[in-house]
Amino acid sequence: MTRSLTILGLESSCDDTAAAVLRGDAQGRAEILSTVVSGQTELHAAFGGVVPEIAARAHAEKLDLCVKQALTQANVTLKEIDAVAVTAGPGLIGGVMSGVMCAKGIAAGAGLPLVGVNHLAGHALTPRLTDGAAYSYLMLLVSGGHCQFLLVRGPQDFTRLGGTIDDAPGEAFDKTARLLALPQPGGPSVEAEALEGDPKRFRFPRPLLDREGCDMSFSGLKTALLRTRDEAMAPFDGLRKQDRRDLCAGFQAAVVDVLAEKTRRALTLYLAETPARPMLAVAGGVAANKAIRAALETVSGEMGVAFTAPPLRLCTDNAAMIAYAGIELYSLGQRDGMDLTARPRWPLDKASPAMLGGGKKGAKA
Ligand code: KG4
Ligand code: ZN
Repeated sequence: MTRSLTILGLESSCDDTAAAVLRGDAQGRAEILSTVVSGQTELHAAFGGVVPEIAARAHAEKLDLCVKQALTQANVTLKEIDAVAVTAGPGLIGGVMSGVMCAKGIAAGAGLPLVGVNHLAGHALTPRLTDGAAYSYLMLLVSGGHCQFLLVRGPQDFTRLGGTIDDAPGEAFDKTARLLALPQPGGPSVEAEALEGDPKRFRFPRPLLDREGCDMSFSGLKTALLRTRDEAMAPFDGLRKQDRRDLCAGFQAAVVDVLAEKTRRALTLYLAETPARPMLAVAGGVAANKAIRAALETVSGEMGVAFTAPPLRLCTDNAAMIAYAGIELYSLGQRDGMDLTARPRWPLDKASPAMLGGGKKGAKA
């Protein structure tokens, strides 16, 4: 049995301030001793998106408290911690800097090694923590800021098979909700309306399905929705209840079809590598959508691949995933110094081209 490692993780790249303590070993097995997430939704509510300056200030105020809570809940002191892992990017730069500075302070004060973690690697490695996923596996990361297929071969070995060329699916759900006067976040409200709607009444485009490969596009759907909404509203005084439900169902069906078909293509590329225990994992807030999950599960079943969706609290931004990535990277020998820098952009796969555009939650990696 190898010696166990106890790692403190910090996350502050977007609008969640988080700290967690994990205990694990060099084989990648780990248990969560504590995970604390402090959201900022109410601070940004009036602005229709995350305001970077407000986010950074809130992170700077909340980080110490989250760390204290995470240590207390884990029933450990800094003396029992082996290393501090921190998100060093990509994300909103002020928030990432707050986390990196806090981690440096703790590391310097307690004489601990520092491990800088890529936020996307945190998401991508989560199925190892939750399901003991064996390398290699395919990860579909779908949230308000991210949308990409990653072939995960190791803690530092990722190949991006494709991703969105514009909006992330969560952004598309949020914009749809805004256009239909539904509450934010848009995903759950659009999904609830879609349950009562007819997905076939309004026909939305399936962007990029006619193009080869695994890239996706969701911004055109929003334009189509706006036009169809206006047409539906024109003969009446406003949007009728059933029209709204049918619009939501039609929109969601388009997203489901695009994700399912692109997943089929990504799985074909992945399976060509003959992985030992083939698995598709989905992560990010959009993974909460039951229609999307069901479609991904069906595609996986058809292609003989296991399917997993980690529990939502570990799919959305959290520090347990950063501490976990920290365990794997520390075990590989990664140590960062006081010169660790915060990076707004940090693609996981250096060989693949940079993503276009910047989402409402900051630059996409
Ligand atoms: O991962 P997350 O909590 O934050 C980041 O974007 O980093 O994802 C939030 C996104 C929001 O855009 C939200 O509308 C979407 O996930 N979402 C959903 C559902 N629940 C949350 N989208 C579709 N269906 C849902 N049930
Ligand atoms: Zn994230």
